[in-house]
Amino acid sequence: MNNTIEPTPSPTTRVAIRLRAVEKTFGKGESAVRALRGVDLEVPIGELTMLVGPSGCGKTTLISILAGLLSRDRGELSVFGQDLGALRRDQLSAWRRENVGFIFQQFNLVPQLTVAENVSVPLVLKGESVSAAVKKAGELLATLGLEGRSKSAPLKLSGGQQQRVAIARALIHEPRLLVCDEPTSALDAELGRRVMTLIRDRSHQRDRAVVVVTHDDRIFHLADTIAHMDDGLIIRSERPTRTTVAGHGPLH
Ligand SMILES: Nc1ncnc2c1ncn2[C@@H]1O[C@H](COP(=O)(O)OP(=O)(O)O)[C@@H](O)[C@H]1O
Ligand SMILES: [Mg+2]
Repeated sequence: MNNTIEPTPSPTTRVAIRLRAVEKTFGKGESAVRALRGVDLEVPIGELTMLVGPSGCGKTTLISILAGLLSRDRGELSVFGQDLGALRRDQLSAWRRENVGFIFQQFNLVPQLTVAENVSVPLVLKGESVSAAVKKAGELLATLGLEGRSKSAPLKLSGGQQQRVAIARALIHEPRLLVCDEPTSALDAELGRRVMTLIRDRSHQRDRAVVVVTHDDRIFHLADTIAHMDDGLIIRSERPTRTTVAGHGPLH
């Protein structure tokens, strides 16, 4: 063993996602909607970042852009050091398959596939055999309270059950970036807590990051950072778990 002194950790948090002046407009001319009007945001590595704001303020647009599902019109975006704008279309889908889990607001389950097959898709796309992937899917579904549902058709399930299938599908390949659009909207308090604890545990790992869009004030306390959005802009960020209950104590 040598006596090397460990360097003091850098006070600057490592950043998973960095957006600078990102703009997005849908449509043209009189019907154009400026959904993002110059968004600046940094999402730290190893943390859970929540994005909150009124309906229509641009939350889904923003997370679709940072997950590589939608292109931006202007501004800079890097995700784990990768400039997504520099990738060709095929490279971008490969990058997404490798790095991103996305829970859609409307779940987007494939009706023709069983529940377990839906969940296994990201593993199969990464080259795992269908039988191994479906087995892993069944195990993850059981931890989300969906044992015995693997062979069901997704549309036969309740909204809350479908939401958990969508959550399992986003988690199964252990993506570096997990992006969730209202992941607890169809869940009762106990299930919402279980799901968010699972999601939060995944975020607190090296080289991971999680972004959750939510209106659900029952889960705000689980956030490391809450970014508030309004009218196409991030207007303020706070770090609720780093302050005392009164909200003005020292950082720890
Ligand atoms: N594909 C689209 N085409 C046209 N307008 C869109 C599209 N997607 C979103 N918008 C508009 O962009 C704005 C922001 O939408 P969205 O990002 O879905 O907001 P939020 O998720 O915060 O409710 C809204 O005015 C919405 O109507
Ligand atoms: Mg939305």
